Formats: sequence, C-alpha cells, structure tokens
Amino acid sequence: MPDHLQNEIDPTKLPNHIAIIMDGNGRWAKEKGHDRLYGHYHGVESVRNILEGCAELNIKYLTLYAFSTENWDRPKDEVDGLMELLVDTIRKEVATLNKNNIKLHVIGDMNTLPPSARKALEEALLETSHNDKFNLILALSYSSRWELLQAVKNIAADVKEGKLTIDTIDQDTLQKYLATSEFPDPDLLIRTSGEYRISNFLLYQLAYAELYFTSTRWPDFRKKHLFEAIIDFQNRRRRFGKTDEQISLREPEQLQHS
Ligand code: IPE
Ligand code: IPE
Ligand code: MG
Repeated sequence: MPDHLQNEIDPTKLPNHIAIIMDGNGRWAKEKGHDRLYGHYHGVESVRNILEGCAELNIKYLTLYAFSTENWDRPKDEVDGLMELLVDTIRKEVATLNKNNIKLHVIGDMNTLPPSARKALEEALLETSHNDKFNLILALSYSSRWELLQAVKNIAADVKEGKLTIDTIDQDTLQKYLATSEFPDPDLLIRTSGEYRISNFLLYQLAYAELYFTSTRWPDFRKKHLFEAIIDFQNRRRRFGKTDEQISLREPEQLQHS
C-alpha cells in the first residue's frame, strides 16, 4: 500500500470526477510475447484496483473509457474477445459494486452491443441502481461525436414537436441532452500508455479538466499511479479563464468551476 503517497493527498482538494482513457493493453501484452486479449484480461485487475483507490479517497465519480465507437473497426477476434470479457467481468463484479455502494452507469450506443453484453449490462444497471455513494460510469461503444450527434438530433426533434424553442436553448439545455447529463464534468482526465490525445472522449465535458498523461500501460496502472496523478492535479492552478489574482482571493473550497 503506497501509504506515503496517500498521505500527501489533500482531502479538501480532491477531484470530484476522474475520467480515464485506459490505453496500452495491446502493447503491454505484445511486449510480453502474448496476444492483445491477454492485455485486456490483465486490464481488468487495474480497473478493480483503481475503483478501490477511488473509494478509499472518496471520489464520487469515475468514468472509464472501455470501448470507443472506432474500436468496432478492430479485428473481429479482438472485438469478440473484448465483448466476452465485458460480460464476464460485469457479472462477476456486481457483488463488489453492491458491497461498496457503487452505482453503475453506461454511456454509449448500447444498441450496437451484442445481445449478451447488453443483457449483462442491463442487469448490472438494475442490480446496482439503489447504490448512492459512488458512481462508476462505463463508456462503451462511446464517442463524443456520436454523443453530440444524438444530442443535436434530439434537440431538433423536440423543437419540431414544440417541446423546446430555439431562443431558450442554452448551455444547460445542451448539457441535458448529453449522455452525461446526470454527472458533473470531469476535473481530471488521465490517459495511460504515453499517447497525448483525447481519441473522441468527452470532448465537450473536458473543457476545463486538468489533463494528465503517463507512459504507464493500463495493465500496470495501480493506486500508486492514481495517487501520483491526483497529487499532480492538486498542484495545478485551475483558473477557469480568470486571473491568478482573482483565484487567490477565493477560498480553497470555492475552487470549483462556478
Ligand atoms: C486500450 O488498450 C483498450 C481498448 C481500446 C479497448 P489498446 O487495446 O488500445 O492497447 P494499445 O493502445 O493497442 O496498446
Ligand atoms: C481509446 O484508445 C479508446 C479506449 C481506451 C477505449 P484507442 O487505443 O482506441 O485510441 P487511439 O486509436 O490510439 O487513438
Ligand atoms: Mg490504444
């Protein structure tokens, strides 16, 4: 247990919502002489460990990018293997989610998932729906461009039906049409495996997130690395467009986007 690192974390300045692009499974496996799926299997252990770390720190929202819209274009064997792993993991983990009072959410195009995966997810969503301490949000068959397109279509449909008028559409309206309407925006985005890009993830919601990139591959990512990211986050100065002087005048607990 990296106690010394945990002690360095200021409990009054924690991110409320952490989003993670879990990247590098394939390369991790290849480097060890295995096939890509071996990396995905080991990535599940990291998910468990990070979920535990978030609960220990009392971080309310964790969003994990598990499968993107574009990932459907990978070789069929890999996609099938990932879907099987998803069904297996979800079924196995529901008890742990309930034990720790974690509510599961999914963002993404559920209609594109194979029926077995959709069924496992629907059951897990229902079985964890009463939990109210933590939120685990899985981005599955998700991409920002897909999400924004749905939002635009739904807004247009509601305008057409007279439920909305163009003049009243504001940022709050748009927020309500996003897949993430129930959640605050992420404060911290972590991407593993040394890539410096967003890959179509929460493009709108990350507007003011602090970005943290690490070369650690996802299957090697543990609480220790999470704590390092949080300590780094706590040393950032979030200005939200204001000046340093304006920020200094505010109390630490007010350092949220208002
Ligand atoms: C992330 O690891 C998991 C998914 C995208 C499903 P990758 O599979 O992208 O691994 P690399 O980036 O090829 O190493
Ligand atoms: C992003 O990783 C998607 C997930 C982690 C699920 P990718 O490996 O698909 O991203 P690119 O292709 O390197 O941008
Ligand atoms: Mg990748």
